[in-house]
Order: sequence, then structure tokens, then C-alpha cells
Amino acid sequence: MENNAILKGVLGLAALTGVRKIVVGGGKKLEGELEVQGAKNSILPLLSGTVLCQGESVLHNCPNLSDADAACRILNCLGCKCGREGNRVTVNSEQILNTDVPAELMREMRSSIVFLGAILGRTRQCRLSFPGGCELGPRPIDLHILALKKMGVDIKEEHGYLNCSAPKGIYGARISLSLPSVGATENIILAAATAKGMTEINNAAREPEIVDLAAFLNKCGAKVSGAGTGTIVIEGVPKLGGAEHRVIPDRIVAATYLCCAAITRGELILKNADYSHVGAMIPVLEQIGCNIYTYGSYAHSGEGKIYINAAKSLRAPHKIRTSAHPGFPTDAQPMFMALASTLKGTTVFVETIFDNRFRHAQELTRLGAKISVDNRVAVVEGVEKLSGAELEATDLRGGAALVTAALYAEGTSKITGISHIDRGYDNLVGNLRKIGAEIMNN
Ligand code: UD1
Repeated sequence: MENNAILKGVLGLAALTGVRKIVVGGGKKLEGELEVQGAKNSILPLLSGTVLCQGESVLHNCPNLSDADAACRILNCLGCKCGREGNRVTVNSEQILNTDVPAELMREMRSSIVFLGAILGRTRQCRLSFPGGCELGPRPIDLHILALKKMGVDIKEEHGYLNCSAPKGIYGARISLSLPSVGATENIILAAATAKGMTEINNAAREPEIVDLAAFLNKCGAKVSGAGTGTIVIEGVPKLGGAEHRVIPDRIVAATYLCCAAITRGELILKNADYSHVGAMIPVLEQIGCNIYTYGSYAHSGEGKIYINAAKSLRAPHKIRTSAHPGFPTDAQPMFMALASTLKGTTVFVETIFDNRFRHAQELTRLGAKISVDNRVAVVEGVEKLSGAELEATDLRGGAALVTAALYAEGTSKITGISHIDRGYDNLVGNLRKIGAEIMNN
């Protein structure tokens, strides 16, 4: 039977069960051109940053994601007016009426902790529920708390809530992070932007999303320098106004599409892509046998392109070790594991950022992948054939890895748990279909 007919039959059954699924008929070579969406991990701190602005901010290139919707709900709950028209999000933060974020909104998105620094910066007080662990393991916020305390914020942990206040104001401080936490760096920048005096962050996170946040805040009147390096200096200013800003391209979404092209031994052009942000991933793709060319510079002209062309026979990259930027991103590890499952040879993955970031491995084995996991190390022995199966996404990038592998697997795969994928991918299914995948949402 034709793959399409099988897919239609499966879709009919899936509709009867009422559970949302992505259904993939594997084995189609992907070819064409795609535009990379704006970065999820930029939008969240940027939306939080608008709380500091006494005026209207406009963010362009905001993808349609459930995490972005959750951030808008938090803004509206604080009294800001957040609205969306297509990919343009407008936030008016003239008035802040509330400084508490209810537990149910905090639970919707773990990264909502990034609102802490901004609310404190604007109002000198904030109450929000303690974010728990997540799918990737425990997610402590000790570094955020230590830094804010050093800046004069009184923080009490009571009944699962963080009660924070700084009646005498927030003060600049010299802060050395024991590890370059992205969220802690963002919270410190946000709290420091309107603090009294100078703040210096040592061992700061260097991710492109930190650079994007600093660029936006500087347009609003802040004085942040050194973003993108290990030392960031913030000179506090009395107040910020609103600004207009274009969100940077999502490097993890770019990596996902590159892996989808490679796993199907296809050919793809990514538009609206910044090659400098995907630096650590390009050599891995080249090493396995893909040709990669980059055109233009997103940073200089706003027009960057990445071209990938995968050879028919690819070989395993041997070792992938995740680390903080500019190292290999932990967020791209799952999609590269899906790819490695189909390559000739063995790949060892070493995960250095999160405790529990191999949950997709077990699902990949349902397709026939050969993966053994020991704590933070996974060994993948490439196989020639994967076969379609029923899979469950248990986290955002793990879900994207399952879709990636299903594009290669013979026959039909059905993936549930797709609300995880909605958190970070705008129209993943439509985009993959556009470049030749047999894939549907149901
Ligand atoms: C951000 C990204 C996430 C990415 C991660 C690492 C957003 C919205 N999310 O998450 O997609 O996977 O960076 O690149 O931008 N840690 C502590 N104490 C702290 C803070 C962090 O021990 O106070 C640990 C964490 O448990 C983790 C590591 O540091 O093991 C990195 O965390 P962090 O860089 O803070 O990640 P997030 O900002 O949560």
C-alpha cells in the first residue's frame, strides 16, 4: 500500500481516540527552503524585559508558541497590555498593577522565573511561586537568589513562594557565578538595569539570547556592555522607555531542520538563519559528511542563509559533548542523537548540563535505534534501518528528536505528547510538509 494511504488510515483512527498526534510517514527525502522562526529563548527574557519599560515596546519576529502565550498571560496579569498581530507582539507597560505571579501561571512555563529580575527592577517587590523541577531534572535557582540578595533584595522562601522586596532599592554589585547560568545572567541583567550603581557579572552566560536581551534593553535606554562575553557590566539608569526590536533567529530550530535534512539525506536552504549562532553544530555536520555553505550575515544585514546537502552515506561523529555557549548546545543534543542513530559507526554523547536529558533515547529505541544510557553518557550504535512506531514526546527537544527520527524510519510513526513540541516550534509540521515530508497533525 502507498505510504499516503497508510497515513490516512492511521489519521482516521487517531481522530477517534481524541489524543493530539503527529503522524509521520518516513523515508521521504527533504528538499527546499525554510525560514527560521524567532528564538523562543530570546522572546521570554525580552517579554520579561518589557516590564521594566515605562512605555510601549514592539517585538517583531515573535513566533507563535505556547510558551510565548504563557509569557503574555503573565504580562497581562501584571497589568501590562500584551497583544499579538501575526508575528508582532506589542506590550504596553505604562502601568504595573500587580507584582504577584499566580502559581498556575508559573507552572505553565518553568522559565517564568525570568520575570523575577524584571518585576523587582520595576517595582522593588515581587511574589512568585518557586519553580519546581522539570522534565530535564531538578532546576535549582540558587544562583538567581544569591545574586539578587547581593543586590539588596530580601528574599524569603515561604510555603512554596518566593517573597521578595527591596524597600531601600536595588544596588549594583560584583557577582561571580559559579556556573554560567543563562537564566541567572538574565535575571541579574534585568534587576541591574535600573539599579543604583554598577553591576558586574563574572562567568556570565554567553548565549546569543543574552546578547539579544542586552541589545533590546540598550534600545530602551539601559547601559549594558560586554554581553556575549564572560564579563557583563550594567550601569544602572533611573528608568527605561519602550523600544522596537526584532527577535534573533532560533538557533535550536535551525539545528532541528538541519538534522531533519541530514537524516533524510536531503538538501535544504535555511533563510533568516545566523551561522555564527550554530557554530558548534556545523563542524559536526561536516564531519559526518554533509556539505554546509553559509551566505550573508544575519548580524550585519539581517539576511543570513545556511545551505546543507547530505551525502547518501554518512558516518558517525564519534563524540558529542554538550557545554555552555559557544560549546555544543544541550538543546540540540536530542536531534543529533536521532541523526546519529542512523549513521555508520558509534557516537558517544556526554551531557554536561542537565541530569535527565536522555529520555528521548528510550523512545528512539522503539524505532529500532541502538542506544545505551549510563547516567550522563549515551552510546549510540548507528543502524541502517529504523521502523515506524508509536512514540511519546516527554519534553520539547526530545519531541523534536522523535519527529526527526520518524522522518527516516520506514513506515508510519505516531507521536503523542505534542504539547511539549508546541512550546518551542511554530508550525513544525507545516514547515516539514512544505519541504517534502509526509507528516500531519491530528
Ligand atoms: C536556558 C534555556 C534552556 C537551555 C539552558 C542551557 C531558556 C528559556 N532556557 O535554561 O533551553 O537548555 O539554558 O543552555 O533560555 N543551575 C543551578 N543553579 C541555578 C541555575 C542553574 O545549579 O541557580 C544549573 C541548572 O540546574 C543546569 C545548569 O545550571 O544544570 C544550566 O542552567 P541554566 O543555564 O540556568 O538554564 P536555564 O536558564 O534554566
